[in-house]
Amino acid sequence: MAVELEFDYSNLMGSNVGLQHGLQEAEIAALQPLVDRIHKQLADDIDEQCRHRELGFWDLPHTMREELPSLQAAAEQFKGLADAHLILGIGGSYLGARMLFDGLCHRYWNELPADRRGGWPRIYFEGNGVDNDSFADLLDRLGDQPLTVHVVSKSGETLETGLAFRAVRQRLGDQVKGWAFTTGDDTRVDRFCRSLDLPNLQVFRLPDNVGGRDSVLTPVGLFPAAMMGLQLDQLLDGAHQMRDCCHANSHITRNPAYLYAGLQHLSELAGRNISVMAVWSKALESFGLWYDQLSAESLGKEGRGRTPLTAVCTRELHSRGQQHQAGSRDKVITNLFVREPNREKVRTEDDPGDDAERAIYASERIPTAEEQGRTDGYFFAAGRSFAAVNEFAFMATDSAYAKDQRPGLSLTVPRLDEEHLGALIFLFELATVVEGRLMAINPLNQPGVQAYKDFLTGLLGKPGLEAYRDECLALRAATKGYVLNVGSDI
Ligand code: PA5
Repeated sequence: MAVELEFDYSNLMGSNVGLQHGLQEAEIAALQPLVDRIHKQLADDIDEQCRHRELGFWDLPHTMREELPSLQAAAEQFKGLADAHLILGIGGSYLGARMLFDGLCHRYWNELPADRRGGWPRIYFEGNGVDNDSFADLLDRLGDQPLTVHVVSKSGETLETGLAFRAVRQRLGDQVKGWAFTTGDDTRVDRFCRSLDLPNLQVFRLPDNVGGRDSVLTPVGLFPAAMMGLQLDQLLDGAHQMRDCCHANSHITRNPAYLYAGLQHLSELAGRNISVMAVWSKALESFGLWYDQLSAESLGKEGRGRTPLTAVCTRELHSRGQQHQAGSRDKVITNLFVREPNREKVRTEDDPGDDAERAIYASERIPTAEEQGRTDGYFFAAGRSFAAVNEFAFMATDSAYAKDQRPGLSLTVPRLDEEHLGALIFLFELATVVEGRLMAINPLNQPGVQAYKDFLTGLLGKPGLEAYRDECLALRAATKGYVLNVGSDI
């Protein structure tokens, strides 16, 4: 099977949405010399073993292949130990696995009987925050049954994950039949887990040169994927195909990653600095959230970087649709559309009532209230599958935006499977790096996320961080208060 992707940017072009609101071919062409330099840098950084010196994610489609047998074997072992699998991690150590789960597993996976899950366990996520009630509910749910746990932290120093690990050890420790850890080289969590006498311990490595947000195709995402019974080789295959396609084409309109990066970059320069990922399947919502992180952490720097947002359609057409259609002209919509559903096509059929309805509406006269009350009013959509109606909705929305000169582009894949998801993952990872280079910022670091961590761990009393605690308290004391307390002031 080969990856297919249609990249339609017609409605981003000024010729279709007005010169003031869209881009011009000449602007895109003018990026080519810079894109050529970026392409050359990327190619020059690849060594004889096809390894990239800087972009660790570039290597994963082939390097991870060697690790698949051990990941699969560990997953098979865990499968036999318990019917619940808990994944602890946050940010890049959470969103990739969540995206695979929501994207490729049955929507009600945890409610299915084990045989409908192929014997694979129910999947739970925690450690992605410090929400008391969420954690309490998890303890309540898992409090009396065997489980396996996967702790994911590249640094091994993340408070949310570390506290969750501690709480699970203390509250559920006796029930945990297998422990897995994915972490960087020689981290505290690595040393610590090996010092404990944990049952069925598995430790996986996250390569040093792969950033958290690019780590879904390492054990960070692949071990969870194995625990969901997904086709790991297909995920890597899809990424591989996209990598080959991008490596082979330096021309901006022939390379989907360069094109996406270039179009977003030019749109941002033109003041359209909110970028909405409109996904047309609920299964892709977490893909949108994964991309929000990738884009925000990579590009939100030096006072710049477009704001990414995810919208699930048609759901959000009934909430944010008004603003997309008629609000500030600061947005570009990226539609992500899947042509064929994975499940049976659900459709409504004509029923006898529909004939009466059709007759009423076909007549010249206005139906009486009593006649209207006898119909459900949807005879015109009878016989069409939900998938077909979704495609009409996509078409209609795209046209409605274009009519009001609202720019957008669409990426369409024929189906949502491991291969296409792998390809999309690689496409957006590469596009993000290239967009960062077009902006002349470093897309691979995230200095901004450290600030809250220093204040938080300082406030909690971590030794050595007293200065952060004092600075945070001083800042708060010096802040002139403007607070209205409902209940005491009024
Ligand atoms: O993308 C990133 O680097 C971050 O979102 C990290 O993944 C997140 O902070 C979790 O870090 P760690 O994996 O070190 O626990």
